[in-house]
Amino acid sequence: MPDKAYVITGPTSGFGRRTALELAEHGTVVLVGRDAAKLDDVRRRIEGGGGAALTVRCDLSDPAGARRAAARIVELGLPIAGVLNNAGIFPNRPGTNALGWDIAYATNHLGPFVFTEALVPHLQDGTQVVFVVSAVEDPERGAATVSGFRGGRYVSAEASSRGEWKPGGSKLPGADAYATSKQCNLATVLAFARETPRLRFNAIEPGFAPGTNLGRDAGPLLRLLAKYVLSPVAPLVKHWTNPGTAARVITRILTDESDATGVYYDEKGRPMRGSAQVHDPAFNARVVAETRALLETAHV
Ligand SMILES: NC(=O)c1ccc[n+]([C@@H]2O[C@H](COP(=O)([O-])OP(=O)(O)OC[C@H]3O[C@@H](n4cnc5c(N)ncnc54)[C@H](OP(=O)(O)O)[C@@H]3O)[C@@H](O)[C@H]2O)c1
Repeated sequence: MPDKAYVITGPTSGFGRRTALELAEHGTVVLVGRDAAKLDDVRRRIEGGGGAALTVRCDLSDPAGARRAAARIVELGLPIAGVLNNAGIFPNRPGTNALGWDIAYATNHLGPFVFTEALVPHLQDGTQVVFVVSAVEDPERGAATVSGFRGGRYVSAEASSRGEWKPGGSKLPGADAYATSKQCNLATVLAFARETPRLRFNAIEPGFAPGTNLGRDAGPLLRLLAKYVLSPVAPLVKHWTNPGTAARVITRILTDESDATGVYYDEKGRPMRGSAQVHDPAFNARVVAETRALLETAHV
């Protein structure tokens, strides 16, 4: 039995892959993702370095599948010290999951929400649960508005599942869905931290990393530019990062043993503020209540 185990979603690319390799220095890593071959590749890489890893298949766009994956993890009986909700997408055209729900909202918020709620009763006191969120949820964030974001556009969980956002949003394809889903992640962290003080719930804005696969829908030229020109200089630019740097900060937070809960960290691991809306306890409690009601209606 290992001393500690860390659960990570989306360990097959970008921030998640580098963080999974870092976490292997701290305990057994439970790799949660949708692609068996990619998961095995990361597992072999960890084992090759003398670490231990297990894989659990899970498509987070399917909330019922997320619940089953959480149940499989509980069955493993590992001493879980940390859970990292990292997986996410930023599609640039609308799409839906099998339930007809907005694909970005389902993958980024609803799946991770179900996954976390299903794990919570089985986590030992003090377990660290971290969500990778994004500052684009804040309409006052200059660096995001300059790029065309208009902050989270939450109307209700049900409206979000239908791909409906508060009017006056972004002209950037997919931006309102992405920003709203990330705002709901942050709202979940802040509300869960209040609801369940025996665990720790924290969030991190990892910084903008042009070299990950998050922009996989962008054209090939833009992707080449992002990967080979922008990514190498990213750590020199304010609020930018690369997967290696971000992985070290994320790992530091996930393995931190302080009592801190309900904290939102920036790309350097310093506490930061999100939007005024997300810090309003009435708003973040509403997001959680409406998410639960939506999932219940769908019998997830
Ligand atoms: N890159 C940035 O600038 C930036 C900034 C702020 C926040 N973030 C956040 O950072 C997190 C990681 O993003 P990244 O930039 O590292 O992107 P990435 O390279 O595209 O990695 C995303 C990960 O999520 C997994 N994933 C996608 N859809 C999934 C699904 N339906 N079920 C299970 N896993 C799924 C991917 O799996 P596959 O390999 O199978 O596709 C991959 O492992 C996201 O939550 C993102 O919102 C990114």
